[in-house]
Amino acid sequence: VPATAAATLGGAGWWWAGADLDTAGKIRFVNRLTIPPLAPSQRDPEGRRVFDLRASPGEHRFRAGRPTPTWGINGPYLAPTLRAARGETVVIRFRNDLPETTTLHWHGMHLPARMDGGPHQPVEPGTTWSPTWTVNQPAATLWYHPHPHGRTAVHVYRGLSGLFILDEPGARGLPSQYGVDDIPVIVRDLNLTEHNELDERDREQGGVGIVGDLVTVNGTPAPYLPVTTQRVRLRLLNGSNSRIYRFGFGSGRTFTVVGTDGGLLAAPYETGRVQLSPGERAEIVVALRPGERDALRSFPPETGLNPWDRRWTGGDDTLDVLELRAARRLAPSPPLPARLAEAPRLVTDPATPPVRRFELSGYTINGRAMDMKRIDFAVAQGSTEVWEVTAIDDAPHNFHVHDVQFQLVSVGGAPPPPELRGWKDTVHTPPNVPVRIALRFRGEPDPATPYMFHCHILNHEDQGLMGQYVVTAPGRSAGRSPVRSAPT
Ligand code: C2O
Ligand code: CU
Repeated sequence: VPATAAATLGGAGWWWAGADLDTAGKIRFVNRLTIPPLAPSQRDPEGRRVFDLRASPGEHRFRAGRPTPTWGINGPYLAPTLRAARGETVVIRFRNDLPETTTLHWHGMHLPARMDGGPHQPVEPGTTWSPTWTVNQPAATLWYHPHPHGRTAVHVYRGLSGLFILDEPGARGLPSQYGVDDIPVIVRDLNLTEHNELDERDREQGGVGIVGDLVTVNGTPAPYLPVTTQRVRLRLLNGSNSRIYRFGFGSGRTFTVVGTDGGLLAAPYETGRVQLSPGERAEIVVALRPGERDALRSFPPETGLNPWDRRWTGGDDTLDVLELRAARRLAPSPPLPARLAEAPRLVTDPATPPVRRFELSGYTINGRAMDMKRIDFAVAQGSTEVWEVTAIDDAPHNFHVHDVQFQLVSVGGAPPPPELRGWKDTVHTPPNVPVRIALRFRGEPDPATPYMFHCHILNHEDQGLMGQYVVTAPGRSAGRSPVRSAPT
């Protein structure tokens, strides 16, 4: 590492030892991007699609020197991409060969609460858990990760996460050759100790948890992606514990957002930036010219974030994420379809009053921390509710709800921006900006097994910024909430 470059970037907080820097102090993208393998599956006699997953410790090479002890699923680090189509029944046989109890949660999936893999479905070391459900939701980029109460941050950080791609028969027109022009982009940041171990300390000590200097994609530091087609679809996942990214390209080129957390947008939307807080996804399509190189970067936020959030996005600097390298000849890609999906229309009147309010502050929701034994409220199956979520302190927060995909009704009283008008399961909540969401509860009634809602900044979640709801039989009036989230 040239000393001058290190000195320039050291102060920015995200320079990492071993990086190859060019004269402008930017990372040279030296490693070919790893594509997570597609998990093989089998058909059982009932026609169900069966996946075998096994979590275990491993080792992964992030930089020269010793390999880093990590955790992984069906491999030493991260997890294979699962894929299933709407209407299929999946069975996951998940074996825990880790030295600790964990869980496996299907983030964004509509499924029975006892299959959800939250903190109430622990998987002890040496045992196997086999959830099953029928996929019944639109094509989307979902993901999966552990959710053991109080230990989610460290289990995810050590490497347990992967994509779960849902397909829908009939959908077409978008680049869809996995690993060729349809690319998983799991963005995670981490710190290494001088011995190349994962540094699990909260260096900032501000409660936000781990903010890493080393930004990786699919576990690859300083990655480049060879591009061989005119258009390439990137399935972006912010898989980081705490960082917020505002993605864009170094050249200033625009790209097309085609999907949000839970499905495709109604129509493609062209923009230069898309911001993702932890857990959020966006599907984008980028067109390169033959022979061109351009880098996906994370840029400082323009509005809506407080100084804390600015730091987590990289302050006033850009973060290098992934270089796209187009071949001299690019295979033709079909034009993007003008219409992609149905827009969510759970609520059409933006003035619809919320039936519940959630104030996020510190490690609490409405002043209370998570209690595994407390159900915060019940909702009736089939009902639609508007919730208002407001972060009332100066810390960065977002809000994720299990089992449902929701519609953004308003952000600070204004209509949501176009890139957030698709189905969402996680939404950033800028300080003191009320965010209203509409949710329809389709879960099967199970008054004994809760679904979670929480901040996806994983240290906040672990420390208590989480609550639990249950779904009860249709027609029952929505249960009164023991927290201050019921109408007053
Ligand atoms: Cu991605 Cu409750 O989790
Ligand atoms: Cu938070």
